[in-house]
Amino acid sequence: MWPYPKIVAHRGGGKLAPENTLAGLRAGLAYGFRAVEFDVMLSRDGIGMVMHDPEFGRTVAGHGSVAGTDASALAALDAGGWFGPQFRDEPVPYYTQFIDYCKAQRIWMNVEIKPADGHEAATGAWVARITRDSYADELRAGDPAGYPLLSSFSFEALAAARDAAPELPRGYLLDQIPVDWQQQAEQLQAVAIHTNHKHLNPELAARIKAAGYGLFCYTVNDPQRAREILSWGVDGFCTDRIDLIGPAFV
Ligand code: G3P
Ligand code: MG
Repeated sequence: MWPYPKIVAHRGGGKLAPENTLAGLRAGLAYGFRAVEFDVMLSRDGIGMVMHDPEFGRTVAGHGSVAGTDASALAALDAGGWFGPQFRDEPVPYYTQFIDYCKAQRIWMNVEIKPADGHEAATGAWVARITRDSYADELRAGDPAGYPLLSSFSFEALAAARDAAPELPRGYLLDQIPVDWQQQAEQLQAVAIHTNHKHLNPELAARIKAAGYGLFCYTVNDPQRAREILSWGVDGFCTDRIDLIGPAFV
């Protein structure tokens, strides 16, 4: 039901490095993390880039948008200086760079498909195709523990991912679990529900588990809270506090 790691570094290296950068992956690895969540959005020329916000202004300076800028120009932006001077000129990564790094270091990936508005299906299909092609050997080997897990808040993006690469597992991201969650998850042929731990309760967790789904939470930064949700049957979660909650946390 959940063949994947239990503790996952959020946005690369949590709060110890600029989010969604290779420096973040290095920080995670330095803390022993071989499991990472990050966000992928399409550039203007249709290339998957590791970015959370659709607009500039927070992790990269200036005005503009990911969907309105070519990949090469995005890759030239400074996505690290906002976090600290030692990270200045850390680029916006190509998704393929993240794949290469994670494969080389044997890091499990939870790839959050984060489409800009209006680009849902294109983003879901692109991420699914590239991921499937990059993990062809693992998919052929047939061990689900070696598969990356795609997730998204966008039903449309996940439906497009399902159609483009049905063999890749999908997790449906829901901030609050709606009453028809199972019907939606069935349509997406999802293997897991990913949800905000703040809105979860033991009864809901038990229902999701009893229905046969994996249950993953974001973003859990307090060890006591982490223990509590794990006691409800939650299979895994991502954390920003990779310094407080290690990969072997129980
Ligand atoms: O994938 C879980 C979590 O990352 C969802 O929220 O905004 O941090 O991408 P966000
Ligand atoms: Mg995310």
